[in-house]
Amino acid sequence: KIYPVILSGGAGTRLWPLSRAALPKQLLPLVSDHTMLQETALRVAGWPGLMAPLVVCGNDHRFMVAEQMREAGITPLGILLEPVGRNTAPAVAAAANYLQAIDPDAVMLVLPADHVIEDRDAFQAAVGRAWPLVQRGQLATFGIVPNAPETGYGYIRRGEPLPLVDDCFTVDRFVEKPDAATAEAFLADGGYYWNSGMFMFQASKYLTELAHFKPGIAAAAEAAVRTGYRDLDFCRLDEAAFTGSPSDSIDYAVMERTRDAVVVPADIGWNDVGSWSALWEVQQRDANGNAKRGDVYLDNVSNSLVRAESRIVAVVGVKDLVVVETGDAVLVAHKDQVQRVKQVVDHLKSQA
Ligand code: GDD
Ligand code: MG
Repeated sequence: KIYPVILSGGAGTRLWPLSRAALPKQLLPLVSDHTMLQETALRVAGWPGLMAPLVVCGNDHRFMVAEQMREAGITPLGILLEPVGRNTAPAVAAAANYLQAIDPDAVMLVLPADHVIEDRDAFQAAVGRAWPLVQRGQLATFGIVPNAPETGYGYIRRGEPLPLVDDCFTVDRFVEKPDAATAEAFLADGGYYWNSGMFMFQASKYLTELAHFKPGIAAAAEAAVRTGYRDLDFCRLDEAAFTGSPSDSIDYAVMERTRDAVVVPADIGWNDVGSWSALWEVQQRDANGNAKRGDVYLDNVSNSLVRAESRIVAVVGVKDLVVVETGDAVLVAHKDQVQRVKQVVDHLKSQA
């Protein structure tokens, strides 16, 4: 059986001022009337062979997560609460331990809660292609054909084609977040995919690999689940055990190191909506290329994203801008420089 595991713990700082620690991007309706978390759960709802999702999130977000699931008509298998964020390697390890206790043969489909996937059928087909590989103990990644030398992604170099399955490959190299020059070289090489950040593997296989490469994380996650407890509809990971885990991402901790990774190329209309320009790309736009939300007045504006949350926003005679108004903050940025919004948040944190 395949268990979707939805990771809903990130902060989404590059989508400031809309995305905040108390209400990060995965809990916001960014591209449709559903929040990104709801979109993620609904995308895999009702697939044959797929169980109800297990959501892993921070303690502070528990009621919002539960309410959003209810609103979407989804009854999760469980909601695992992290007392503190320790990045994705421990979060996935906690989910793996939790699932193994229910089903020793559990297969996990790890899904970030903040992605857009336009072609749901193609995604389902990619998961189907990964299934036989996962059953024989491999760790499947879903590879996206890159179109820019992005430094915020993992890169996967395709190895040999795998026998008996169409269009799946061994992983020659996995390089998490290369520098700009390396990313350029990978793009020019042509044999690389972006790591989509979604994974599929047996829970037991992930735990074996993690225990090998990062025994401290494996032990802490195991203890955090073993001594965790039920609280209403939630499962609380043990605070002392989980807080004691080293912090690391699954990409650095396991995927860069394992010899058993495979890549399933996935042409699925994927976008990780990491920035305002990425959001502009996936949103509906008018004839002038403007993506608008809320009470917005535009005159002679093109290729811009304008969003009003609490007041009227009027924009005149500009192009390629991002204007985002919220109750307590306003962002105006050039669409080509939105990666630097992260620094705004860093600055605000340092002032606090
Ligand atoms: N529960 C939980 N706890 N979830 C977390 C935590 C945590 O401590 N940290 C991050 N997440 C969630 C985020 O909300 C997101 O949905 C997902 O895990 C991935 O984390 P990011 O922090 O967004 O990772 P990234 O974007 O830097 O890199 C990953 O995704 C890229 C594609 O978007 C990597 O897997 C890259 O290799 C990949 O290219
Ligand atoms: Mg991300």
